[in-house]
Amino acid sequence: MSTEAAAGGVPRRALLKLSGEALLGERKYGIDPEIARRIAGEAAEAHREGTQVAIVVGGGNIFRGLAAASRGMDRATADYMGMLATVMNGLALQDALEQAGAPTRVMSAIAMNEICEPYIKRRAVRHLEKGRVVVMVAGTGNPYFTTDTAATLRAVEIGAEVILKATRVDGVYDKDPLKHGDAVRFLEIDYSDVLSRNLRVLDASAVAMCRDNRMPIVVFNLNVRGNIMRMTMGEPIGTLIH
Ligand code: GTP
Repeated sequence: MSTEAAAGGVPRRALLKLSGEALLGERKYGIDPEIARRIAGEAAEAHREGTQVAIVVGGGNIFRGLAAASRGMDRATADYMGMLATVMNGLALQDALEQAGAPTRVMSAIAMNEICEPYIKRRAVRHLEKGRVVVMVAGTGNPYFTTDTAATLRAVEIGAEVILKATRVDGVYDKDPLKHGDAVRFLEIDYSDVLSRNLRVLDASAVAMCRDNRMPIVVFNLNVRGNIMRMTMGEPIGTLIH
């Protein structure tokens, strides 16, 4: 089955999962405005072409909860700090999306009404229907959950047809392609194989949740310009997990 067929052709509603690291560019820390502009430009283009776009963004470019916990910090505290980092990324994306001409609402799983809206499922759906890009921040609002899990939860809740998972490689490989020259890419793979082969492209709980809810995931290379648009036009790229 092609990506297009599995994702139901051109998706009406897609959830784009961006890691915080996607915003780093060549930097070691923070947000590269040039990269934010490019990603936002591509998402805005998909939005203009008629796909409703929701975005879940991580925070690892600013603060990595797990890394801090491994150095002795209380895990829940570290995760909360990570969630706050995602809010900064969300605001940067909102700014870039609106400069690219896409009206955008930021919705947070942790209430901070002075800077963004609280996440309310029905309101998020209304924003999408009204032609706004919705950037969802603060993960699930709970420690011990990754932003991959948050992306899955939100995609299922808002009735997205597909999760577009941005990475630095062209899809899912049988081993890490950045370390092994002979790694082979899968065009498609099923959820159970991702789990049993321990492929770690998304965390296991997110993959299991996608499987239980029949949510297809397309893993793609964000560094290739135009990929977001290609996917929303139904072009089969990357790897389809279904
Ligand atoms: P509709 O009701 O569908 O027209 O949506 P809307 O978002 O245009 O309406 P609303 O009047 O609720 O919001 C106007 C602006 O206020 C938007 O930029 C929202 O993101 C923002 N906004 C709404 N609720 C909150 C909130 O609780 N906190 C913050 N900071 N902004 C909010």
